[in-house]
Amino acid sequence: MAKLLITWCCVFFSFGFIFLNTNAASVTYNVLSFGAKPDGNSDATQPFLKAWVAACSSVKSATIYVPSGRYLIKAVTFRGPCKNKIIVKIDGTLVAPSDYYALGNSGYWILFIKVNWITVVGGTLDGNGAGFWACRKSGKNCPAGARSITFNWANDVVVNGLTSINSQLMHLVINSCENVMVKNVRIIAPDLSPNTDGIHVQSSTGVTITGTSIKTGDDCVSIGPGTRNLWMEKIQCGPGHGVSIGSLARDYNEDGVQNVTLINSVFTGSDNGLRIKSWARDSTGFVTNINYQNIMMKNVDNPIIIDQNYCPNNQGCPRQSSGIKINQVTYQNIFGISATQVAMRFDCSPSKPCSGIKLRDIKLTYLNNIKAQSICNNIRGNTGGVILPANCLL
Ligand SMILES: *[C@@H]1O[C@H](CO)[C@@H](O)[C@H](O)[C@H]1NC(C)=O
Repeated sequence: MAKLLITWCCVFFSFGFIFLNTNAASVTYNVLSFGAKPDGNSDATQPFLKAWVAACSSVKSATIYVPSGRYLIKAVTFRGPCKNKIIVKIDGTLVAPSDYYALGNSGYWILFIKVNWITVVGGTLDGNGAGFWACRKSGKNCPAGARSITFNWANDVVVNGLTSINSQLMHLVINSCENVMVKNVRIIAPDLSPNTDGIHVQSSTGVTITGTSIKTGDDCVSIGPGTRNLWMEKIQCGPGHGVSIGSLARDYNEDGVQNVTLINSVFTGSDNGLRIKSWARDSTGFVTNINYQNIMMKNVDNPIIIDQNYCPNNQGCPRQSSGIKINQVTYQNIFGISATQVAMRFDCSPSKPCSGIKLRDIKLTYLNNIKAQSICNNIRGNTGGVILPANCLL
C-alpha cells in the first residue's frame, strides 16, 4: 500500500513539474532583432510593431524585450486581444519625435487597445512635450497633442517601475479597464506644463496605484466618471494640482465615482491636496464612498477642497448649481501645513448638498503655526477627534 502511494505521489509530482515547466516556457522577442536601432534617431516604430505582432500571436506567453538605449517611436497602437500573456520588459528609453506634429491628431502616443494580461516592466517614456507646450502658450494653431501611454479596454494590466517624463498631455491613462496595478512609477513634468496630469483613471474598476512619485503641471492623479474600487497608497504628489476627483458634470449623462481610497500619502507644494471638483451644472453623476487617510500636507495651497462651483468664463452653467451628489466622504488623520489661510474648503452644490462627510483627526495649520480657517457651504456631516481648523460642518 505504502509503495503504491509513493508511486502515485511520484506520478503526481512529475506531472506537476511538467505542467509548471510548460507554463514557464515563454518566448522572448528582442526589438533589436526586428530592426530597431537604439540611437534615438532611427524610427523604431515598425520594428516595435513587428515585435508586438509576433508576441501577440504567440501561443506561448511572450516577452518583448527592449534593451538599453534610446528608441524613436511615433504614434503607435498595440492592439489585442493576444493569444497569451505578454510582458514588455524595457531597459531603454522610448522617445517621442521632437516635431510634435509627427504624433498627428489622434491624441495618443503609445496606445494599448483590448489587451488582456499585459505587464510593462521598467523603461522610460520621454514625451518630448516642451515644443508642444510652447506652441500652446504662444496661442498659435497647435495639433491636439498626445497622451504618453494609454490603456483602453484592457484587463489584468500591470505597470511596474515605469518612468514617464514630459508628456505632451496626460502621462498614463487607464480608460475602460478592469484590474490594473500601477506600482513604483515615476512621473515628471515641469510645474507649469499645461494638462500634463500624472495618471488619469476613468470608466475603470479595480485600479491600484502604489509607491508612485508624481511631479507635474496638472493633477497628480485625476479620477473621471465611472471609476470604481480605486486604491491609492504611498503616493508622493507635488508640484501638481493634487489628487482630484473630477472635473465631473462635464457631460449631463455621466457615470458616478465610487469606492475610492487614498492612504499613506504625502503632498508637497501642490496647488491642491484632496480635491473633488465638479462643474456647476446638472448631471446624472455622483460621488460616494471616498476615504482619505493618513495624509501629510507640506505647504499645500488647498489641502482639503470640494469645489462644485467650477465654471470657467461663466459659460454653460445657467443655474450655477451642480447635479453631482457627493456622499460618504471620510477624511481621517490629515495633517501638516497649508500654504493658504483656508485649509479646508467645502463649496458644495446648493441643489444637492454634500452629506455623510466625516472628519476625524484633522490638524492643519497655516504656514508657521498661524490658525487656519475652514469654509462650509451646503454640507452635512460629523466629526471625531481634534479638528483644526475649526469644524464648520452642520
Ligand atoms: C472597494 O474597493 C476595494 C479596492 O480598492 C475593494 O477591495 C473592495 O471590495 C471594494 N468595496 C466594495 C464595497 O466594492
